[in-house]
Amino acid sequence: MHEAIETLKRSALAELSTSGDLQALEHFRISYLARKGQIAELFDKLKDAPPEQKPALGKALNEMRRSIESQFEEKKARLETGQKKKSIHLDLTLPGLRPWVGSKHPITQTLDEIKRIFLGMGFQVETGPEIEDDYHNFGALNFPPDHPARDMQDTFFISNDVVLRTHTSPVQIRVMETQKPPIRALIPGRVYRNEAISARSYCLFHQVEGLYVDTNVTFAELKGTLVAFAKQFYGSSLKYRFRPSFFPFTEPSAEMDITCFLCKAKGCRVCKNTGWLEILGCGMVDPNVFQSVNYDPEMYTGYAFGMGIERIAMLRYGIDDIRILFENDIRFLSQF
Ligand code: DAH
Repeated sequence: MHEAIETLKRSALAELSTSGDLQALEHFRISYLARKGQIAELFDKLKDAPPEQKPALGKALNEMRRSIESQFEEKKARLETGQKKKSIHLDLTLPGLRPWVGSKHPITQTLDEIKRIFLGMGFQVETGPEIEDDYHNFGALNFPPDHPARDMQDTFFISNDVVLRTHTSPVQIRVMETQKPPIRALIPGRVYRNEAISARSYCLFHQVEGLYVDTNVTFAELKGTLVAFAKQFYGSSLKYRFRPSFFPFTEPSAEMDITCFLCKAKGCRVCKNTGWLEILGCGMVDPNVFQSVNYDPEMYTGYAFGMGIERIAMLRYGIDDIRILFENDIRFLSQF
């Protein structure tokens, strides 16, 4: 019978150690520890044992039961606290983790809005290279060879003849070299200037250029188009003015101002107390430019305009340092 006690103990402890959850443990309890379980069954056999062996067998039986019971209790306690811990991990009332969602850069958003308005007026998007030759960036646009814009101070030269484009106007030339009028091109892109970097200027920024060429294009059409754009973009209540200006590639040239929408033209730091904001340069395409692309200046006229995007986006979103637009800091970008 000693052997039977030993065997039962071994099989009980082995089963206990593989009981991985409370359900298995309950199964174990019924099988071994319950009133009709295997341990009780063995106790029953004690009455048939020879009387002189009974004390020792009783002692062995009791020890076996105590040892199994205590390991059972220990395991039960462990599984119960373990389950409590688990239930913390599975708190279904906790709010979910929100996945990161990207957003469009404020420059892209501004560009998209400008494109939407001009595409609605029949313009078509064109693009050109950011590494440009001197001829397209300057010469064909009627810049004289000694023009100050070619100065090392303003232009990044890659070689004597190759530059990082300083404006999107060279794409006007590339479009006219490959297409015949009528042309209605909208040209967005990055441009580069060798400027001292500050809160107001950066070595790289974006422009949008417009070009319209056909027979009988007039300055009135230029004004009408730009006013229609400005009212859609900045709001229909704005006032505007065109001031005479100079660009080598347009004649006559102008700059367009709108009433400052930040102070409602009362005068603030941004409009330098004038109530006006300059938003773009424009003019009628200079006949010399037509000649450089072999368009007959007697037959065709056209207008062009160009505007910087950073300034517009900064005014729109109240951003006071241009450099932050190029840092790609998630804390900034996720606000748009
Ligand atoms: N390219 C000029 C600049 O970078 C902007 C500009 C002015 C473009 C007048 C034009 C224009 O097309 O007609 O300052």
